[in-house]
Amino acid sequence: MRIEKSLLDNYIEQTFVQESLAMKLAKEKALQFNKEGLSISSGEGALLSFLIRLSGAKKIIEIGTFTGYSGLWLLDGTQNLGQLWTFELNENYYNSAKEVFDFANLSAHVNLFLGIAKERLKEIESLGPFDAVFIDANKNSYSLYLDWAFKNLKVNGLVIADNTLLSGLVYDETIKNSLFSKGHIPKMQAFNIDLGTQIHFQSILIPTKEGLSVGIKK
Ligand SMILES: C[S@@+](CC[C@H](N)C(=O)[O-])C[C@H]1O[C@@H](n2cnc3c(N)ncnc32)[C@H](O)[C@@H]1O
Repeated sequence: MRIEKSLLDNYIEQTFVQESLAMKLAKEKALQFNKEGLSISSGEGALLSFLIRLSGAKKIIEIGTFTGYSGLWLLDGTQNLGQLWTFELNENYYNSAKEVFDFANLSAHVNLFLGIAKERLKEIESLGPFDAVFIDANKNSYSLYLDWAFKNLKVNGLVIADNTLLSGLVYDETIKNSLFSKGHIPKMQAFNIDLGTQIHFQSILIPTKEGLSVGIKK
């Protein structure tokens, strides 16, 4: 979920980021649902792509597809050669994402699942280990998704989680914010402590506006 962009965000995006036509379509679909703020920003997308390419990941899990915008960036990081398994609860979003991946000619690289991620993830465990897991769905289950990632990532595999600053609320609960409920704060704080103190991951939080926590499985 995105909050207002700064001049710095705009400068970075205008200077470094080029969206594909399919990415623009994914954004248009988000706008049609009146939910443009749900997708990651283009700058964060380019950062995701960069991390994926740097790590050499090809087998990628995404929890929280929405209209496919971040999925396109994840595949971009594989130079569109990798495989994405992506999970979405809402049928309308699922159908939109399907159209977006078709439009991008990437259907052969995408395995799109409709339903509750924690249930449907079980179906693909035998296909692992995976190279990267991107977490961007219901905040209450972030710690559960981290456990799943640890069990199903290869050594040196990457876990990336979006919104881990909750617009600043994780370190300053007095910040005025209408995007996240107070109930999310202890959940996300617990997630960051889990990742930050686990001996199984080397980790850090990249201070994008929303916060991107990243870990490499040891
Ligand atoms: C923040 S949006 C994802 C945005 C997307 N990653 C992007 O940047 O383009 C979160 C998505 O997770 C989905 N979601 C929420 N809870 C879920 C669950 N338990 N299982 C699967 N998907 C879920 C929501 O319907 C929503 O589309």
